[in-house]
Amino acid sequence: MGRVVSLGSINVDHVGYTSTEWIRSTAASYDWFPSPGETVRVESFPDSLAQAYDERYLGGKGANQAVAAAAAGADTSLLGMVGEDESEYEVRTTLSKRGVDVTEVESTDGPTGAAYVAVDETGENYIAILAGANGRVDDAYVERHVGSLTSADCLLVQNELPAETVRAALDHLAERDNRPTVVYDPAPAADATTILTHDCVDVVTPNRGEYETLRDDIEAFDGIVVRTRGAEGVVVEGEDRFTVPSPSVEPIDTTGAGDVFAGFLGAELAAGSDLEQAVRLATVAGAVSTEREGVQAAVPSRKVVESATV
Ligand code: RIB
Ligand code: NA
Repeated sequence: MGRVVSLGSINVDHVGYTSTEWIRSTAASYDWFPSPGETVRVESFPDSLAQAYDERYLGGKGANQAVAAAAAGADTSLLGMVGEDESEYEVRTTLSKRGVDVTEVESTDGPTGAAYVAVDETGENYIAILAGANGRVDDAYVERHVGSLTSADCLLVQNELPAETVRAALDHLAERDNRPTVVYDPAPAADATTILTHDCVDVVTPNRGEYETLRDDIEAFDGIVVRTRGAEGVVVEGEDRFTVPSPSVEPIDTTGAGDVFAGFLGAELAAGSDLEQAVRLATVAGAVSTEREGVQAAVPSRKVVESATV
């Protein structure tokens, strides 16, 4: 198998299993409230609302994608930062147990990143994130870890770190002939343009909402566009065009299905699989993960994914 590096966020997820009715009334009171499947950045989260988010998981798109890549069999490292708080030890031990190398995760003062994830009775997710330590990952961090970044077969990036940091990492790849394949998950979609326009992005994986928000940029993008569309499967556009159907599942929590997809996709690309085979496996992995609560706890094993792949 190949080597995958995920440069991205680490969060503590506060999850509320709610209802479409609760979502509707909450969205009516808070204009920033996310749309279905959307992640939005917030500066603070109201205490009164936080009470409804009473379950706790470890998450963050960067960490989730790393867990999925490791489950898919890749030699996987996570690059990012955690806060020096009560979650630090748990983040490190839990991710290591899942096969993710966290030796390059740095600790910084202040809180670990956090997410408030609402899930309705159809399994749809609505996410607000607070940057915390993720906001501290800067160019200097990238400089300290450039060896790891450039030696990956596949680099996974998302949009929960400062965009300049991700661009700085991609700049380091630009000068190399033998650089990793870069897979970019443009979530949250706000400000994704600055990364999407970098020459080193090879594959972009928008979900439905992200595709709509970024449509003009994605149409101008000359790499591979992999559109994840939930039950409607995955559409690949680029040099090759094809559609992969999703297996039929009964979703209870779709949170992070895109991360599971990206992690499996990255692992397969790192191992040298062809694009269609990689997308097929990743589609099944993402779909299967919606049948269980949480994200990292819902990442299926490679064995399960292979037996469900047709
Ligand atoms: O994609 C799901 C993830 O988005 C959650 O784990 C949450 O932390 C946010 O980063
Ligand atoms: Na899930």
